[in-house]
Amino acid sequence: MIQTPLPAHGGDRQWAARIARCRIEELVDFSASINPLGPPPGVQAAYGEGFADLLHYPAPHGSDLQSALAARLGIEPERIVCGNGAAELLTWAGRECARAGRTVLPIPAFGDYRRALAAFDAPYISVPLAADFSLPKTLPPGDAVMLANPHNPSGYLYSPTALAALFDRFKLLIFDEAFIDFLDDPAAFSALCGPAHPGLIVIRSLTKFYSLPGLRLGYAVLPVAMAARWQAWRDPWPVNALAQHLGVAALADLDFERRTRAWLGPARSRLAAGLALLPGLTVLPGAANFLLVQSAASAVHLQAELLRRHRLLIRHCTSYDGLGERYFRVAVRGESENDLLTGALAEILAKTPATSRVDGCASSPPPSTDPVHPE
Ligand SMILES: Cc1ncc(COP(=O)(O)O)c(C=O)c1O
Repeated sequence: MIQTPLPAHGGDRQWAARIARCRIEELVDFSASINPLGPPPGVQAAYGEGFADLLHYPAPHGSDLQSALAARLGIEPERIVCGNGAAELLTWAGRECARAGRTVLPIPAFGDYRRALAAFDAPYISVPLAADFSLPKTLPPGDAVMLANPHNPSGYLYSPTALAALFDRFKLLIFDEAFIDFLDDPAAFSALCGPAHPGLIVIRSLTKFYSLPGLRLGYAVLPVAMAARWQAWRDPWPVNALAQHLGVAALADLDFERRTRAWLGPARSRLAAGLALLPGLTVLPGAANFLLVQSAASAVHLQAELLRRHRLLIRHCTSYDGLGERYFRVAVRGESENDLLTGALAEILAKTPATSRVDGCASSPPPSTDPVHPE
């Protein structure tokens, strides 16, 4: 029996392959929400050319990527900081929170926010979101707020009016827009198009939409003085030359953006409808390329069975504050893969004993020989 710790994030295929006792390539990963249409064809073409860039140090600032992003967003390049994934930029946002005072953290939230805050001993208070994942009517006093829009793990989309209420309340606003590119009209919901605010930080990722999780690329849009402060805090070359090169190629592919948006709506509706037909599952409406599902059966049990019997990896939500064993999250993938998932879940749920159902009082997963959930 291999003792492997439960991964903190989705997408840990090595861990999953050990549990499923298969090769990594045999897994279908629904746990990380990555665009199945990608990466854009232009990125593969640029990959070869990018080799020449490896012979030199990457541009520390003022890169072509920064200019490409500035042109797309219609803002000054000095307001953009490119990062080694959105996760690296969350770290510096955590440091800003520590400088600001107390952070209000609506939960459940992407687990990396806590890491970023803890890295700088930033004081924070967790506040439960409403049952439908909208913002609660009242928030405690604080200096900063950190929120994903669309929200992870629910896919809830906060309206410009809901965000405007936060603009009035906090001196530092961190909006994580890692999934916003999946909306038909990102500008209609982005905090970048809201009122001007001297403490506004928007963080985005190229990981999910452009299907480049291994490349590590994201960016932040923030006030110029803050951008300069972050550059002084960081190591000199946080974004490698290949990532910069491929990032420019990804952004140039407008046809890929159109194709992705045309694919997502119908694919998500079809998957949601398929899941909703299964016993004990309630699918929450979501605006991103994943769905949060509430389950009468233990999601830990479902994850284990899907892995062992079908080599399908989903994300149970025990690591999200306030969700626990009753929820799992799945990426929207290609049609045949989505059908595999609904078929496999139907089979497992038909056999799931009452003891593994969380509703009522029997909440423990069935006995297992593998440490799928060793905590
Ligand atoms: C809400 C959210 N923000 C940020 C990230 C990190 O993205 P990246 O891969 O660009 O570091 C993730 C990754 O899962 C996420 O879900």
